[in-house]
Amino acid sequence: MKCSKTLSVEIASVGSYLPERVLSNDDLSEMVDTSDEWIYPRTGIRERRIAAPEQATSDLAAAAAEQALARAGLEPEGLDAILVATCTPDHQFPATACLVQAALGARNALACDLEAACSGFVYALTHAAAMLETGMADNILVIGAETLSRMTDYTDRRSCILFGDGAAAALLRRATDGGQVLYTELGADGSGGDLLIIPAGGTRSPASLETVKNRRHYMKIKGPEVFKIAVNKLLELLQRIPEETGVDLADIKMVIPHQSNARIINSMLKRAGMDLGKAYMNIDRVGNTSAASIPIALAEAVEQGKLQRGDLVLLMAFGGGLTWASALLRY
Ligand code: UT7
Repeated sequence: MKCSKTLSVEIASVGSYLPERVLSNDDLSEMVDTSDEWIYPRTGIRERRIAAPEQATSDLAAAAAEQALARAGLEPEGLDAILVATCTPDHQFPATACLVQAALGARNALACDLEAACSGFVYALTHAAAMLETGMADNILVIGAETLSRMTDYTDRRSCILFGDGAAAALLRRATDGGQVLYTELGADGSGGDLLIIPAGGTRSPASLETVKNRRHYMKIKGPEVFKIAVNKLLELLQRIPEETGVDLADIKMVIPHQSNARIINSMLKRAGMDLGKAYMNIDRVGNTSAASIPIALAEAVEQGKLQRGDLVLLMAFGGGLTWASALLRY
């Protein structure tokens, strides 16, 4: 789905939360046969954050949400909707968004989760923008939150080095400060679903002693296959921006890509002829946090003053599903 209609919707505020515990590459090298020398050059990751045992995804999400609301000066009762993008919910149901709604006391908000893996935040933002543009809602909290460490197999060196935990929230409203959503593109190819998957625990393969014994409740990733598809698909998304929007890539102030692998991001920008410095990167400190990755990076860019009102910013994601998404915003 492509939408090149300009929407008068803007990000009013952002908030983020990263758990305190740091898991470094050296820590991982004591758990599996790996090393910082292997991980960093291949991925750009040096460390990632891990949620405390008592924390679940809704706790991280609520902390990020509270910060976004406080920064916008909006009471929780003023929210019309809470959309949580996550592939690591607290439970199969209720939705993590409902737990966040209760934690915030946002009693007037609808609440539901959206699962599009690493593309989830951009998917949710696009749905929220459509609801705001039609006048169905005035204030929507879009949250990306993950506790991937709970689904990570720390005996599998091919995947455990990648993932971390965290959350971030963006409060979206009809524009009052000149912000716009200029273009969004969302896509999927379910035939590649097995490339990134938690095989058991759903209706296809319910939890059993066998599934637990065979470690089938952990994420399985066919890394090299995903890598190749991700680079090509992200490049396609990037190259479509000028033809769909008339915006020159040189005029984009910042690209905020899903932080999956620094090599994927650099390769995409290089092949598109873009300055590598345009990408906001925090993968070295945060790792891959799936649906939380783009909003965490966005929140940091805003907090650091690297993104100002009026700047063009391009959000880009690729992940499990397979799914992909881009959104060109005037911040
Ligand atoms: O967020 C959703 C999107 N996700 C992604 O886009 C992830 C995309 N994929 C990747 O980022 C990369 O494929 C990985 C970082 C996951 C893996 O890097 P790679 O360069 O594709 O490595 P590989 O899987 O092809 O493995 C190369 C070698 C293998 O050894 P042999 O079989 O050639 O002897 C692996 O066993 O490196 C070995 N290896 C490791 N060695 C040390 C794999 N993982 C590790 C490790 N430490 N952690």
